[in-house]
Amino acid sequence: MILYNLQLKNGLLLAPMSGYTNWPMRMLCRRFGAEICYTEMISAAGMVRRTANTKKILVRPADDRPLVAQIFTESPDEASLASRMLEDEGFDGIDINMGCPVKKVVFKGAGAALMKDVDRAASIAEAVRSAVRMPVSVKMRAGWDTSSINAVEIACMLENTGVDCLVLHPRTRSDMYRGTPRWEVLSGIRKSVSLPVVASGDIRCTDDLEQIRVLGADAFMIGRAAVGNPWIFRELSGGPSAGIEERRDVMLQHLDMLCLCFDEGKGVRHMRKFIAAYVKGLHGAAHFRHSACSLDKHQQLQAVIKEFLKT
Ligand SMILES: Cc1cc2nc3c(=O)[nH]c(=O)nc-3n(C[C@H](O)[C@H](O)[C@H](O)COP(=O)(O)O)c2cc1C
Repeated sequence: MILYNLQLKNGLLLAPMSGYTNWPMRMLCRRFGAEICYTEMISAAGMVRRTANTKKILVRPADDRPLVAQIFTESPDEASLASRMLEDEGFDGIDINMGCPVKKVVFKGAGAALMKDVDRAASIAEAVRSAVRMPVSVKMRAGWDTSSINAVEIACMLENTGVDCLVLHPRTRSDMYRGTPRWEVLSGIRKSVSLPVVASGDIRCTDDLEQIRVLGADAFMIGRAAVGNPWIFRELSGGPSAGIEERRDVMLQHLDMLCLCFDEGKGVRHMRKFIAAYVKGLHGAAHFRHSACSLDKHQQLQAVIKEFLKT
């Protein structure tokens, strides 16, 4: 499968996750087989104004590629300006967020709100398509709510705008992240458009992957299941999970990278989001989690990780 002009081997991508998929998480997931990663969502308005928050999201090492920048906006003009700036920044593709369910995003008319404003969604996709040469994708939901499941209509509209690929998280905005993904929506899109479709939602094991492949997915996005579990990409390709030694080494590297990405205090605090998942299922995990999450120095956290995961 070719996506974003890249020939993929396993078709496994790391989902964009605000507050998680900064460069340390992306680099770890790449090591275990994620073929394409996405930035956290970037405000197009913030990009145009070059706000400090936006600049932080753009920071990345040179080998953090291929990397797709994801924008959210309700404005075709800002979408156009921001995507051109992101192309100049050297990203490998641009994704338009039409799925974010968060109130402060949808109240402005961006994210999942675009699922109920087909004209605006079309204008934004057209604006980005004509602003850049790089591949353009759209990440969408099934619809706004159960009474307005319109992903097939949106997909057909998007195909006509000339975007290169669709990413589908087949829940409605009202579903948020709950309930079973509405995979029948993927079949509907597959029958109606010929663009490649990436599936996103609750993919955790090879069985999930194969069931979704049969419905017509061309590639697969892994989100929550990769948190504190970057070797999921290796497992989904038929490889092993991680033993104690590997878990320890990856955890320590993750901590080091977060302290480089932020500063020591923020890096250590950010690591708390991953600690529970890294030690899930291990004897004494609850006690370890409790003590590890109370620390705020790199050296202290490093020491308790080494002690808990010693071989
Ligand atoms: C904490 C969190 C942050 C997210 N941030 C984004 C985002 O910035 N952009 C986006 O398109 N989707 C975002 N998502 C949605 C994921 O990309 C993905 O579509 C969804 O979580 C379903 O996949 P999963 O079950 O593999 O996590 C986020 C999800 C979570 C849980």
